[in-house]
Amino acid sequence: SVPERVADLVGRMTLPEKAGQMLQLNAKDGVRHLIEDMHAGSILHASPDRVLEAAALTERTRLRIPLLVAEDCIHGHSFWEGATIYPTQLGMAATWDPELVERIARATAVEVAATGVHWTFSPVLCITRDLRWGRVSETFGEDPFLIGELASAMVRGYQGDGLDDPTAVLACAKHFAGYSETQGGRDASEADISRRKLRSWFLPPFERVAREGCRTFMLGYQSMDGVPVTVNNWLLNEVLRGEWGYTGTLVTDWDNVGRMVWEQHVYADHTQAAAAAVRAGNDMVMTTPAFFEGAQEAVATGMLDEAEIDAAVRRVLTLKFELGLFENPRHPDRERQAAVIGSADHAGLNLEAARRSLVLLANDGTLPLAGGLGAGPDGRAVAGAGSAPRTVAVIGPNADDAQTQLGDWAGSSGQADWLPDGHPRAMIRTVLDGFREHVPNGWTVTHARGADILTVGPDPEGAFFPDGQPRPEIVVPAEPSEAMIAEAVAAAEAADHVVAVVGDRIELVGEGRSTATLELIGGQIALLDALVATGKPVVVVVISSKPLVLPPSAHRAAAIVHAFNPGMLGGRAVAELALGLIEPSGRLPLSFARHAGQQPTYYNQVRGQHGTRYADLTQRPAFVFGEGLSYTTVTYTDLEVSTDVLGTGDTLRARVTVRNTGERPVLETVQAYVSDTVTSVTWAEKELKAYRQVRLAPGESREVVIELPVAECSLVDAEGRRIVEPGAFELLVGPSSRDAVLLRAGFTVKG
Ligand code: IFM
Repeated sequence: SVPERVADLVGRMTLPEKAGQMLQLNAKDGVRHLIEDMHAGSILHASPDRVLEAAALTERTRLRIPLLVAEDCIHGHSFWEGATIYPTQLGMAATWDPELVERIARATAVEVAATGVHWTFSPVLCITRDLRWGRVSETFGEDPFLIGELASAMVRGYQGDGLDDPTAVLACAKHFAGYSETQGGRDASEADISRRKLRSWFLPPFERVAREGCRTFMLGYQSMDGVPVTVNNWLLNEVLRGEWGYTGTLVTDWDNVGRMVWEQHVYADHTQAAAAAVRAGNDMVMTTPAFFEGAQEAVATGMLDEAEIDAAVRRVLTLKFELGLFENPRHPDRERQAAVIGSADHAGLNLEAARRSLVLLANDGTLPLAGGLGAGPDGRAVAGAGSAPRTVAVIGPNADDAQTQLGDWAGSSGQADWLPDGHPRAMIRTVLDGFREHVPNGWTVTHARGADILTVGPDPEGAFFPDGQPRPEIVVPAEPSEAMIAEAVAAAEAADHVVAVVGDRIELVGEGRSTATLELIGGQIALLDALVATGKPVVVVVISSKPLVLPPSAHRAAAIVHAFNPGMLGGRAVAELALGLIEPSGRLPLSFARHAGQQPTYYNQVRGQHGTRYADLTQRPAFVFGEGLSYTTVTYTDLEVSTDVLGTGDTLRARVTVRNTGERPVLETVQAYVSDTVTSVTWAEKELKAYRQVRLAPGESREVVIELPVAECSLVDAEGRRIVEPGAFELLVGPSSRDAVLLRAGFTVKG
């Protein structure tokens, strides 16, 4: 059995071999030293040649313990030329579709496994709070319930039917926990967060995947209440391993153990830091080579018991046995790579995901541009009979920027020791490509860039990123260019339709790359102002890693489509949506601010008093969680709960009638929120507790049933216990979290 094999192996290991087994090292400077001298148990960010070299070296070690190879494959295989890159996690979240997310994760695992990688550092379960944070695009948004649904699906997809399946890869729930509760949005700052707040919002998605068998967890970088998360005994031992019974493996984030010495200054040396990290329950230490000596020294000086190291090593080895690596080390397999990486099936899935991820935020009726008569055999939109050919001006800095369209962790973040040349341009369809390939025959597509977003210049203060090396560059917003704007205005004036593609850029996204502002930067606002001033109907398409604050001219435009980072085929999907070849169905997984200073804007904030408003700005977000338009109208009527008095062990059953009252089909996301009317502690006014996605043909009406265990209507009381408080509740059902569109039905929970 696995436990017997693990016990036997641990019994034969020396202390240096055990300390090495806990190390996950960067293959940057070669692997020989890591394996021969440090007995490394795992490597990350390694090229396929390095993986093979490391495997050959491992074969010559005394115990021949196979290596675990890890990589950040967050929305596809990030660092593999030609791999399928899907919409970012935030884009996936806009689909609200766990089944689709599970299929994406499964397809990703198939590509990843063929390259000799056993472990992906995904999904991210952090809750987006401050939109200035650089890692918003890696999250599933702001709602714990939606995050739990989608993360659980992603874990199932990666881990497949069982780890012994050679296409299964280990999932990793990260960053445990509270990492996203930043100060001022700055990455890895101390999180000011109480245990009760953790239990209320941040921990539930993690608890769900822990109980459902996610085999690994990764820590955040931050400290809470003065304690680096790496040594948070309460969180790691009492909650995760104790209360939740988690038996999987815990990996630190990048040099967390070293950072406690050189950055956070809570330990004087690596021996103390290593001892504390092991004692807190860490099993694998990412990129802190000094842990190797530090852990041995800690045992030698009595700071640490060798049995504590054994417990961690047992958990690492258990993974290796469960994956069957001793029998089949799952090396890179060129034949399988050729068959599965970037396959046509995966491209089809990717297009489906991109189409589903787009959110239509405003539309005065300008969209769809081509009247929506469907596609001809060549995939082009069909224009109405007798309609004159038209010209579409596709303008803007993100109209043809492949890298920004792919988003973070797509061969761009510079963390790997090797990088492929990037993802082949031939596999990518930008918005400009999409219009060129899908406008009706006879139509013309013109293009002008119109504005630059930024340049990268020397950082006078030498910012640090992420391993202590000074990052030599900093983003400098571009100056608006009169000549570029004039060219764009001329193109707009000569066109029938204007599509303005704006947003952020890859340099504004990622770890250590938070932004102080949320506005469109560079020449983009001047460009939008000038385009809207032409009087032409302007469709604003935003390709950005996070919700941005759009200028007034964008709100006066004919339509707004938010595309997040929609992946390789996202530009095609945008064109299809604008031309009416597909129906818009994405819904916002997070709220959009009107101003950076309005942070945070998440919908489920606890009820406050009058002080929660600004004197100079409404507190209402620009667009709210759950929102998204379609090309039809849907009505909600007749909300009924079947029993209005329930016990805490019962299930609430409710029905609502949804009717498509327009002329186009729709995929409607029916959202159910619960409001606990009087609570012993301040609590959210409402929380998403269930949703259903239903397809409705024009004129079709359906009764949608919502089932909700009353146990889900809980809160965390002043003592930190999750309980259901008897009393009056309301069920709110509708197309978004906006109060004005929700139907309400009361129910009572008896004690
Ligand atoms: O997985 C990532 C993590 O999300 C941030 N720090 C680096 C890790 C490994 O690349």
